[in-house]
Amino acid sequence: MNSDKKMRLAAYYNPTGHHVASWRHPRADADAHVNIKHYVKIAQTAEKAKFDLIFLADGVATRQADIEAQSRSVQFIANFEPLTLLSALAMMTEKIGLICTMSTSYNEPYNVARRFASLDLISGGRGGWNLVTSGQTAEALNFGRTGPVPHGERYQRAHEFAKIVKGLWDSWDDDAFVRDKESGLFFDPAKMHYLNHIGQNYQVRGPLNVPRSQQGHPVMVQAGASDEGRELAAAYAEAIFSPHLNVEAAKAYYDDTKARMAKYDRDPDHLKILPGLSVIVAKDEQKAKDDFEFLQSLIHPIVGREILSTMLGELDLRPYSLDQELPDVLTPPNGSRGHFDSILAMARKEKLTIRQLGQRVAGARGKNVFVGTPTQVADYMEDWFSKEACDGFTVMPPYIPGALDDFCELVIPELQRRGLFRTEYQGSTLRDHLGLPKPESIYKHAQQRSGAA
Ligand SMILES: Cc1cc2nc3c(=O)[nH]c(=O)nc-3n(C[C@H](O)[C@H](O)[C@H](O)COP(=O)(O)O)c2cc1C
Repeated sequence: MNSDKKMRLAAYYNPTGHHVASWRHPRADADAHVNIKHYVKIAQTAEKAKFDLIFLADGVATRQADIEAQSRSVQFIANFEPLTLLSALAMMTEKIGLICTMSTSYNEPYNVARRFASLDLISGGRGGWNLVTSGQTAEALNFGRTGPVPHGERYQRAHEFAKIVKGLWDSWDDDAFVRDKESGLFFDPAKMHYLNHIGQNYQVRGPLNVPRSQQGHPVMVQAGASDEGRELAAAYAEAIFSPHLNVEAAKAYYDDTKARMAKYDRDPDHLKILPGLSVIVAKDEQKAKDDFEFLQSLIHPIVGREILSTMLGELDLRPYSLDQELPDVLTPPNGSRGHFDSILAMARKEKLTIRQLGQRVAGARGKNVFVGTPTQVADYMEDWFSKEACDGFTVMPPYIPGALDDFCELVIPELQRRGLFRTEYQGSTLRDHLGLPKPESIYKHAQQRSGAA
């Protein structure tokens, strides 16, 4: 069992919710993507419920899809830039952590270090950066490329990128700024550090023009599933938003990723692994099931078909009737077997039409969905937690604000009653909430200040 026996909970917000049809639900705000009041409200709801943090995912493109399906979608279409949004939310909240995504492929380390360090200062030590390497072609097309940087190269650059950002965040000792009006000394020159990084992909002198924050520096987060992704997480991440569908897979990932940390001389407890979980909860089990079925019924058949097509390796289903079964296909067009075999087997066994199959796979979108009563949800979460398959969860409300309100009103009190979740914040920084230490400066034990090269 985890050292302090408390779950960490992240609230993951897609604008209207995680479910693909969320925006059509009567208890979702359809204009959430440009509605700052919506975000203030849901940030404050999560804070009142004592969530550790809120997390905003991001991509640097409008999601690419067949236009008929794209025009019926809300996720990754057109919304606020997340760091700008979090800076506004920092002023409307007091305790909750604020994390968003930024790409290592389409930014420079100095800019990323500077922006997140500023968020961290503005929020009083509540900031965090979710590092992604960006694998979408639609993103590449906005940055002078015809396709994404190849996977291995993306991660090799990301390692160097993360090292630089972390180094830049230590540019100033905590007590560097003396601001002595009497003597006229603003900062102690011995407490300012040049990074002088010269690597394979980047050259960065430093120092960063933002000081350290109350929590030292922002929390570093990663969500890579591949071998390279796990290695990067083991080296740098302090939290992971992971995608597992069952407790066995989550446990294997948990053990593997934490075991890799020894190589980097890191304590496994300094990385919090939080698998994604989308919950539909109601006091009555049948009511929860009815709500889920209702949400499923809102999936437009064209959207369902497009997601199905993506999950079948870009198999073009447009030439076929929605009310016929899948055509006879033996291999996926792009060679990726990902979900191909399991979806095909399910379709054949249950004789599902393309319309029915689209609805089935689009609802979950490969993510972990749990439908039940507060006791059933808490049992499920406790089972994963007690088996050390996770340190908590990334809660992905299927529609917002309705399903977020339900989770806060029904599940959080049950977790608190079991002693699994806090009833009050113990500290004020994100590191305090997550149980992470304030990182020591890399210059702590240096004999002399590092000067400009
Ligand atoms: C919960 C979760 C959140 C993610 N958020 C983002 C995101 O905001 N932006 C993004 O480009 N990728 C995001 N990803 C994708 C991962 O960064 C990663 O690319 C993906 O899991 C595939 O792993 P790999 O890159 O190691 O192959 C997310 C993944 C998960 C599981």
